Amino acid sequence: AKQSIFAPMAIVIKTPEQIEGIRKSSALAAKTLKHLEQFIKPGIKTIELDQIAEDFIKENHATPATKGYRGYKHATCISPNDVVCHGVPNNTVLQHGDIVNIDVTTILNGYFGDTCRMYTVGEVSEYAEKLVQTTKECLRIGMEQCFPENHLNNIGHHIAQHAHKHRYSVVYEFCGHGVGLKFHEDPEVSHIAEKNTGPLLKPGMIFTIEPMINGGKARCKVDRKDGWTARTIDGRLSAQFEHTILITDTGYEALTDIYGDF
Ligand code: MF3
Ligand code: CO
Ligand code: CO
Repeated sequence: AKQSIFAPMAIVIKTPEQIEGIRKSSALAAKTLKHLEQFIKPGIKTIELDQIAEDFIKENHATPATKGYRGYKHATCISPNDVVCHGVPNNTVLQHGDIVNIDVTTILNGYFGDTCRMYTVGEVSEYAEKLVQTTKECLRIGMEQCFPENHLNNIGHHIAQHAHKHRYSVVYEFCGHGVGLKFHEDPEVSHIAEKNTGPLLKPGMIFTIEPMINGGKARCKVDRKDGWTARTIDGRLSAQFEHTILITDTGYEALTDIYGDF
């Protein structure tokens, strides 16, 4: 979600029935990413991957949340290499050595589940591999901050500490978000934030953590032609992983983490 400058927060606590619905939708979003894995090979176009994802989501009695969202026309966002997020699927052909993010948000019985991950195309450079692995670690480190009565911003605080330790930068122009009953709900989840600030986490909250970590500078620029594709300002690589997270009585449940592989 795009970061807003100022907005009062109203974080919805989900009911057990809503949680069950969001759990099912989140599982389907995760299954969609798993289904795509077999097709990620040099030579495939990002628009072809988008079509495969859309077919899979529809076969499973759901719809892609992005299609028709603020004029967006596709079932997924596909963001290769220097694309930070919101990459519009098109005739770009994936090449040996590329890294690419695919982001899927499903609507199943009215409930939203949101997840994304990186894929590597063929063999990638050691540099690219390390950026991907560190970004995955950043998501895990953020998840470890998810327990009742912890400050929301401790998620971003710990993510940024880890990224900076590896001399990467953290994207601040896009953030995680409440999710479940709508695509983007309160709160905004910053991936770089001040320790012990922000609202306290409570059981029944559901939001995404989706750190975007850049090899170079943090700044992004949105493609002027398609109005969506956000790239790094310096052309360096960017990586992202995203899970939909439920705060429980004792900690968290990652609703999109049904395979435990990121
Ligand atoms: N799924 C993205 C997120 O994690 C949002 C994509 S909105 C779109 O928040 F319109 F660009 F598809
Ligand atoms: Co999201
Ligand atoms: Co997403």
